[in-house]
Amino acid sequence: MTSTTLVTLLDVLAGSLPDGDGSSFWLPPQVSTVARSVDWLFNFILAVSVFFFVLIVVVMVFFVIRYRRREGQKAESSPNHNLALELTWSGIPLVLVIMIFIFGFKGFLDMSTPPANSYEILVEAQKWNWSFIYPNGYIDSNLHVPVDRPVRLVMGSQDVIHSLYIPAFRVKMDVVPGRYSKAWFEATEPGEYDLFCAEYCGTSHSDMIAHVVVHPVGEFETWLEQASNFLETMAPVDAGRKLFQVRGCQQCHSVDGSVKTGPSLLGVFGQTRNFADGSSLTIDENYIRESILEPQARVVDGFDPVMPTYQGRLSDPEILALIEYFKSLDGSGE
Ligand code: CUA
Repeated sequence: MTSTTLVTLLDVLAGSLPDGDGSSFWLPPQVSTVARSVDWLFNFILAVSVFFFVLIVVVMVFFVIRYRRREGQKAESSPNHNLALELTWSGIPLVLVIMIFIFGFKGFLDMSTPPANSYEILVEAQKWNWSFIYPNGYIDSNLHVPVDRPVRLVMGSQDVIHSLYIPAFRVKMDVVPGRYSKAWFEATEPGEYDLFCAEYCGTSHSDMIAHVVVHPVGEFETWLEQASNFLETMAPVDAGRKLFQVRGCQQCHSVDGSVKTGPSLLGVFGQTRNFADGSSLTIDENYIRESILEPQARVVDGFDPVMPTYQGRLSDPEILALIEYFKSLDGSGE
């Protein structure tokens, strides 16, 4: 039996059909080159665990009943040694753990060594959004990748430990402040998949969600070019709306009046706001600019000073576009 047939057989036993997307009862679709071998090992360990759990419990219950203490019967001393039995119960587990080690170590090496021609995307994690930085400098809050091409992620955190997790790719890697961590994958199927933060990082940890968009052959480059030119091709108010979405502002600020981690921006222009230090101000362009670059300078009363600075991370034209967008949020609809 070849190893491919064996893998297919185990896939089927695990509930996924050979011509399906590789998803099964407990696992999402398999969309990266490593997904099948990861699932194979998971299913193998699961099968071994279930088999021995059932065996041990059944034998234990049988012995408890069969050899229970009864009136008029005395315990006999047991034979102290059975070489064949002891070799068997040492040998079988030994073979199993060696198999698990070999498959696990091979998978570990594959997953920690990106191919030399990988496309590189930088990742910045912060409470509570992801920024994906493409080679031309464009930044997006969703991860866009080409299909059938190895992609290497170099990841850093602005604040606490986060963890980048893409279930469909079977990729999970911690993102730690003060050092870079790396991950790579090669997507095998165009589509849209989930990306989560898998390390509890504070209040809005569960909102730290993004999409992975796998573009069909040839379409990734077109997407990147169009996405990167938005400041030149869009009206400022539309560019601002896009920035608001792709740069993570919407994770903490609503535009419909509801309160999230930060104040809502609905009708923000011309409003008078009270600050934590007792002062107050009518919101204008200068205050918005200050709040983006020095968020801690004047914190709106009732909110925690948790917004990170965007100094050096948003250009002047981008800040202007955001201001134009906030002006349009006057409650009259867009
Ligand atoms: Cu970031 Cu949880």
